Amino acid sequence: MRKIRTYGEPILRKKAEEVKDIDDKTLKLINSMKETLLKAQGIGLAGPQVGVSKRIFITYDKEKENFITLINPVILEKNGYEIDIEGCLSFPEIFFSINRAKKVIVKGINEKGKEIIVEANGIIARCFQHEIDHLNGILIIDYATQNEKNFYKEKLEHLLQKSKK
Ligand code: CO
Repeated sequence: MRKIRTYGEPILRKKAEEVKDIDDKTLKLINSMKETLLKAQGIGLAGPQVGVSKRIFITYDKEKENFITLINPVILEKNGYEIDIEGCLSFPEIFFSINRAKKVIVKGINEKGKEIIVEANGIIARCFQHEIDHLNGILIIDYATQNEKNFYKEKLEHLLQKSKK
C-alpha cells in the first residue's frame, strides 16, 4: 500500500520520467500501485500519485476484474468526443465535467517489457487520457470552469492547506 498524493503536492505537477528498464523495483512499484488502487476503489492510478515521478499508470476494469499496466504510454489515436463527470483519487469528493475522446488507441510497454497497443472505449478510454495527463503534470482542475471551482472551493482549499503541512 502506498500513500496517495493529493492536490497541492508538487510531485503531481512534475512531468514524469520515461522508464528505462523494468527491474524488480519497477515491478514492486506496479504491485503496490495495484493494491493501492483496489483499496481506494479507483479505476486508475499514475506513478506521481504514489510519489514516483515515472511514466507508469495502471487501470482497473471493474467489470472484467482486469488490470492494465502501461509504461511509457503514448496516445496514437483519438476519436469522437464526450463530456462526462470525472473524479480523481488525488481530488477526493471532487468531480468536474471534462471533454475527452470517446475512443483512444494507446501504445506502451507492459510489465513483461513487451510493447503493446491497446484500444479503449468509454470509461477506460477516459481513464487512459486522465492517467496520461497525470504523467504530464496535468490535473482535472485544469479543465474546470470557474463555477465548478467555486462550487468546490472549501474542499480545494482544504487540500491545499493539507499539502503545505
Ligand atoms: Co487522477
